[in-house]
Amino acid sequence: MSQVKRAAYLIKQSKFTVCFTGAGISVESGVPSFRGEDGLWEKYDPSMFEIDYFYKHPDKSWALINKIFFEVLKDKKPNKAHFALAKLEELGYIKALITQNIDNLHYLAGSKNIVEYHGNSRMLVCRNCGRKFNISDFDLSSVPYCPYCKIPLKPDFIFFGEMIQKEVQEKSEQLMNNCDLLIIIGTSGLVYPAAFLPPMAKKKGAKIIEINKTFSEYTDKIVDVFLEGSASEILEEILSELNAH
Ligand code: APR
Repeated sequence: MSQVKRAAYLIKQSKFTVCFTGAGISVESGVPSFRGEDGLWEKYDPSMFEIDYFYKHPDKSWALINKIFFEVLKDKKPNKAHFALAKLEELGYIKALITQNIDNLHYLAGSKNIVEYHGNSRMLVCRNCGRKFNISDFDLSSVPYCPYCKIPLKPDFIFFGEMIQKEVQEKSEQLMNNCDLLIIIGTSGLVYPAAFLPPMAKKKGAKIIEINKTFSEYTDKIVDVFLEGSASEILEEILSELNAH
Protein backbone atom coordinates (compact mmCIF):
# COMPACT_ATOMS: atom_id res chain seq x y z
CA MET A 1 0.00 0.00 0.00
CA SER A 2 1.43 3.45 -0.87
CA GLN A 3 2.21 5.89 1.95
CA VAL A 4 -0.52 8.22 0.65
CA LYS A 5 -3.04 5.37 0.80
CA ARG A 6 -1.88 4.46 4.31
CA ALA A 7 -2.21 8.08 5.41
CA ALA A 8 -5.69 8.40 3.89
CA TYR A 9 -6.74 5.15 5.60
CA LEU A 10 -5.57 6.43 9.02
CA ILE A 11 -7.38 9.77 8.45
CA LYS A 12 -10.61 7.93 7.55
CA GLN A 13 -10.32 5.64 10.60
CA SER A 14 -9.47 8.45 13.01
CA LYS A 15 -12.03 9.86 15.44
CA PHE A 16 -9.98 12.94 16.44
CA THR A 17 -7.26 14.15 14.06
CA VAL A 18 -5.09 17.16 14.90
CA CYS A 19 -2.53 18.87 12.64
CA PHE A 20 0.74 20.40 13.83
CA THR A 21 2.39 22.70 11.31
CA GLY A 22 5.66 24.62 10.97
CA ALA A 23 7.33 27.03 8.57
CA GLY A 24 7.65 24.37 5.84
CA ILE A 25 3.95 24.55 5.03
CA SER A 26 4.33 28.24 4.06
CA VAL A 27 7.52 27.95 1.98
CA GLU A 28 5.42 27.44 -1.17
CA SER A 29 3.69 30.75 -0.37
CA GLY A 30 7.08 32.48 -0.57
CA VAL A 31 7.56 32.71 3.21
CA PRO A 32 11.15 31.71 4.08
CA SER A 33 11.61 28.95 6.66
CA PHE A 34 13.99 29.43 9.60
CA ARG A 35 16.47 26.57 9.05
CA GLY A 36 17.93 24.74 6.09
CA GLU A 37 18.77 26.34 2.74
CA ASP A 38 17.55 29.98 2.57
CA GLY A 39 16.50 29.76 6.20
CA LEU A 40 16.13 33.08 8.05
CA TRP A 41 18.58 32.00 10.75
CA GLU A 42 21.22 31.47 8.04
CA LYS A 43 20.99 35.22 7.33
CA TYR A 44 20.07 36.87 10.64
CA ASP A 45 21.28 36.34 14.20
CA PRO A 46 18.36 34.78 16.14
CA SER A 47 19.71 36.34 19.38
CA MET A 48 18.30 39.65 18.07
CA PHE A 49 14.89 38.01 18.59
CA GLU A 50 15.47 37.33 22.26
CA ILE A 51 12.86 39.14 24.36
CA ASP A 52 15.55 40.87 26.47
CA TYR A 53 17.24 42.25 23.35
CA PHE A 54 13.87 43.57 22.12
CA TYR A 55 13.20 45.45 25.39
CA LYS A 56 16.77 46.84 25.55
CA HIS A 57 16.97 47.84 21.85
CA PRO A 58 13.38 48.29 20.59
CA ASP A 59 14.50 50.50 17.71
CA LYS A 60 17.08 48.02 16.31
CA SER A 61 14.83 45.04 16.97
CA TRP A 62 11.75 46.68 15.44
CA ALA A 63 13.68 47.65 12.28
CA LEU A 64 14.63 44.00 11.73
CA ILE A 65 11.21 42.62 12.74
CA ASN A 66 9.51 44.91 10.25
CA LYS A 67 11.99 43.99 7.50
CA ILE A 68 11.92 40.20 7.84
CA PHE A 69 8.40 39.62 9.13
CA PHE A 70 5.82 42.34 8.50
CA GLU A 71 7.20 43.57 5.16
CA VAL A 72 7.58 39.97 3.94
CA LEU A 73 4.22 38.68 5.19
CA LYS A 74 1.99 41.55 4.09
CA ASP A 75 1.49 40.26 0.51
CA LYS A 76 1.71 36.50 1.12
CA LYS A 77 -1.21 34.22 0.29
CA PRO A 78 -2.14 30.71 1.44
CA ASN A 79 -0.95 27.87 -0.82
CA LYS A 80 -2.67 24.58 -1.73
CA ALA A 81 -1.44 22.99 1.51
CA HIS A 82 -3.21 25.58 3.67
CA PHE A 83 -6.39 25.26 1.60
CA ALA A 84 -6.23 21.45 1.77
CA LEU A 85 -6.16 21.56 5.59
CA ALA A 86 -9.09 24.00 5.64
CA LYS A 87 -11.01 21.60 3.33
CA LEU A 88 -10.19 18.59 5.54
CA GLU A 89 -11.48 20.51 8.57
CA GLU A 90 -14.66 21.54 6.70
CA LEU A 91 -15.30 17.87 5.82
CA GLY A 92 -14.77 16.85 9.44
CA TYR A 93 -11.51 14.95 8.89
CA ILE A 94 -9.51 17.40 11.05
CA LYS A 95 -10.73 18.65 14.44
CA ALA A 96 -8.01 21.25 15.18
CA LEU A 97 -4.74 22.68 13.94
CA ILE A 98 -1.81 23.89 16.03
CA THR A 99 0.60 26.07 14.07
CA GLN A 100 4.01 27.40 15.08
CA ASN A 101 3.71 29.94 12.26
CA ILE A 102 2.82 33.62 12.76
CA ASP A 103 2.07 34.22 9.07
CA ASN A 104 -1.77 34.08 9.43
CA LEU A 105 -1.97 31.86 6.32
CA HIS A 106 -4.07 29.08 7.92
CA TYR A 107 -6.46 31.81 9.09
CA LEU A 108 -6.62 33.30 5.57
CA ALA A 109 -7.12 29.83 4.00
CA GLY A 110 -10.29 29.35 6.06
CA SER A 111 -9.19 26.97 8.83
CA LYS A 112 -11.36 27.65 11.87
CA ASN A 113 -10.09 25.78 14.94
CA ILE A 114 -6.53 27.12 14.97
CA VAL A 115 -4.13 27.36 17.92
CA GLU A 116 -1.46 29.95 17.05
CA TYR A 117 1.18 28.52 19.38
CA HIS A 118 3.70 31.33 18.77
CA GLY A 119 1.08 34.05 18.35
CA ASN A 120 0.28 36.04 15.23
CA SER A 121 1.41 38.97 13.07
CA ARG A 122 -2.01 40.69 12.99
CA MET A 123 -1.75 42.44 16.35
CA LEU A 124 0.61 44.46 18.59
CA VAL A 125 0.49 44.31 22.40
CA CYS A 126 1.47 46.65 25.24
CA ARG A 127 3.35 44.82 27.98
CA ASN A 128 2.27 47.48 30.50
CA CYS A 129 -1.50 47.81 30.06
CA GLY A 130 -2.04 44.61 28.04
CA ARG A 131 -4.08 46.35 25.35
CA LYS A 132 -3.86 44.89 21.84
CA PHE A 133 -3.85 46.94 18.63
CA ASN A 134 -4.24 46.01 14.97
CA ILE A 135 -0.99 46.43 13.04
CA SER A 136 -2.88 48.33 10.32
CA ASP A 137 -3.29 51.23 12.81
CA PHE A 138 0.47 51.83 12.83
CA ASP A 139 3.28 52.80 10.45
CA LEU A 140 5.75 50.04 11.29
CA SER A 141 8.67 51.81 9.61
CA SER A 142 9.20 53.36 13.07
CA VAL A 143 8.77 51.94 16.56
CA PRO A 144 5.03 51.80 17.42
CA TYR A 145 4.13 53.20 20.86
CA CYS A 146 1.21 52.44 23.14
CA PRO A 147 -1.02 55.56 22.95
CA TYR A 148 -1.84 55.15 26.66
CA CYS A 149 1.47 54.07 28.25
CA LYS A 150 3.82 55.76 25.76
CA ILE A 151 6.13 52.69 25.67
CA PRO A 152 7.09 50.58 22.60
CA LEU A 153 4.49 48.03 21.56
CA LYS A 154 5.55 44.42 20.91
CA PRO A 155 4.33 42.18 18.06
CA ASP A 156 1.74 39.70 19.41
CA PHE A 157 4.08 36.80 18.75
CA ILE A 158 6.46 34.90 21.02
CA PHE A 159 10.14 35.89 21.13
CA PHE A 160 12.93 33.55 22.17
CA GLY A 161 13.03 33.51 25.96
CA GLU A 162 9.35 34.41 26.24
CA MET A 163 6.73 32.13 27.84
CA ILE A 164 3.98 30.56 25.73
CA GLN A 165 0.60 31.95 26.81
CA LYS A 166 -0.93 29.71 29.51
CA GLU A 167 -4.24 29.11 27.74
CA VAL A 168 -2.44 28.31 24.46
CA GLN A 169 -0.19 25.77 26.18
CA GLU A 170 -3.15 24.20 27.99
CA LYS A 171 -5.28 23.91 24.84
CA SER A 172 -2.34 22.45 22.89
CA GLU A 173 -1.64 19.82 25.54
CA GLN A 174 -5.34 18.96 25.71
CA LEU A 175 -5.39 18.41 21.93
CA MET A 176 -2.29 16.19 22.14
CA ASN A 177 -3.92 14.13 24.88
CA ASN A 178 -7.25 13.80 23.02
CA CYS A 179 -6.12 13.11 19.46
CA ASP A 180 -5.85 9.59 18.05
CA LEU A 181 -4.05 10.84 14.92
CA LEU A 182 -1.52 13.68 14.62
CA ILE A 183 -0.42 14.99 11.21
CA ILE A 184 2.94 16.85 11.50
CA ILE A 185 3.65 19.09 8.50
CA GLY A 186 6.76 21.13 7.66
CA THR A 187 8.58 21.42 10.97
CA SER A 188 12.15 20.53 11.95
CA GLY A 189 11.02 19.73 15.52
CA LEU A 190 13.97 21.64 16.96
CA VAL A 191 12.29 24.41 18.94
CA TYR A 192 10.90 23.92 22.46
CA PRO A 193 8.43 23.89 24.09
CA ALA A 194 6.50 23.40 20.80
CA ALA A 195 8.61 20.34 20.02
CA PHE A 196 7.38 18.63 23.19
CA LEU A 197 3.85 18.42 21.78
CA PRO A 198 4.05 15.59 19.18
CA PRO A 199 5.77 13.14 21.58
CA MET A 200 2.91 13.80 24.04
CA ALA A 201 0.40 12.58 21.43
CA LYS A 202 2.58 9.54 20.66
CA LYS A 203 2.81 8.67 24.36
CA LYS A 204 -1.01 8.71 24.58
CA GLY A 205 -1.17 6.17 21.73
CA ALA A 206 -1.90 8.45 18.77
CA LYS A 207 -0.77 7.43 15.28
CA ILE A 208 1.64 9.94 13.71
CA ILE A 209 1.79 10.98 10.04
CA GLU A 210 4.59 13.33 8.96
CA ILE A 211 4.85 15.35 5.74
CA ASN A 212 8.26 16.91 5.20
CA LYS A 213 10.83 17.44 2.46
CA THR A 214 13.50 15.93 4.69
CA PHE A 215 13.81 13.94 7.89
CA SER A 216 13.04 15.95 11.03
CA GLU A 217 13.72 15.31 14.73
CA TYR A 218 10.54 13.21 14.75
CA THR A 219 10.86 11.05 11.64
CA ASP A 220 12.78 8.06 12.94
CA LYS A 221 11.55 8.42 16.53
CA ILE A 222 7.74 8.73 16.63
CA VAL A 223 6.43 8.73 13.02
CA ASP A 224 4.26 5.85 11.73
CA VAL A 225 3.74 7.10 8.15
CA PHE A 226 6.37 9.41 6.61
CA LEU A 227 5.47 11.18 3.36
CA GLU A 228 8.58 12.77 1.88
CA GLY A 229 7.95 15.74 -0.38
CA SER A 230 6.21 19.09 -0.61
CA ALA A 231 3.25 19.74 1.67
CA SER A 232 1.01 21.06 -1.12
CA GLU A 233 1.60 18.11 -3.49
CA ILE A 234 1.20 15.46 -0.79
CA LEU A 235 -1.91 17.03 0.76
CA GLU A 236 -3.47 17.29 -2.69
CA GLU A 237 -2.81 13.56 -3.20
CA ILE A 238 -4.38 12.78 0.18
CA LEU A 239 -7.45 14.89 -0.70
CA SER A 240 -7.79 12.89 -3.96
CA GLU A 241 -7.43 9.61 -2.08
CA LEU A 242 -10.26 10.74 0.22
CA ASN A 243 -12.28 11.93 -2.81
CA ALA A 244 -12.38 15.18 -0.92
CA HIS A 245 -11.77 17.54 -3.80
N1 APR B 1 6.90 20.97 2.29
C1 APR B 1 7.08 20.29 3.45
N2 APR B 1 8.10 20.55 4.33
C2 APR B 1 8.94 21.54 3.99
C3 APR B 1 8.82 22.30 2.79
C4 APR B 1 7.74 21.97 1.93
N3 APR B 1 7.55 22.63 0.77
N4 APR B 1 9.84 23.21 2.76
C5 APR B 1 10.56 23.03 3.89
N5 APR B 1 10.03 22.03 4.63
C6 APR B 1 10.48 21.56 5.95
C7 APR B 1 11.97 21.54 6.16
O1 APR B 1 12.52 20.31 5.72
C8 APR B 1 12.06 21.68 7.70
O2 APR B 1 12.00 20.42 8.33
O3 APR B 1 9.96 22.47 6.90
C9 APR B 1 10.80 22.48 8.06
C10 APR B 1 11.08 23.92 8.45
O4 APR B 1 11.84 23.89 9.64
P1 APR B 1 12.16 25.26 10.40
O5 APR B 1 12.63 26.27 9.42
O6 APR B 1 13.01 24.90 11.58
O7 APR B 1 10.73 25.77 10.89
P2 APR B 1 9.93 25.34 12.19
O8 APR B 1 10.14 23.91 12.49
O9 APR B 1 8.53 25.80 11.98
O10 APR B 1 10.62 26.26 13.32
C11 APR B 1 10.00 26.26 14.60
O11 APR B 1 11.53 28.00 15.28
O12 APR B 1 12.63 29.98 14.97
C12 APR B 1 11.53 29.40 15.55
O13 APR B 1 9.54 30.53 16.07
C13 APR B 1 10.24 29.96 15.00
O14 APR B 1 8.10 28.82 14.79
C14 APR B 1 9.50 28.74 14.48
C15 APR B 1 10.16 27.61 15.23
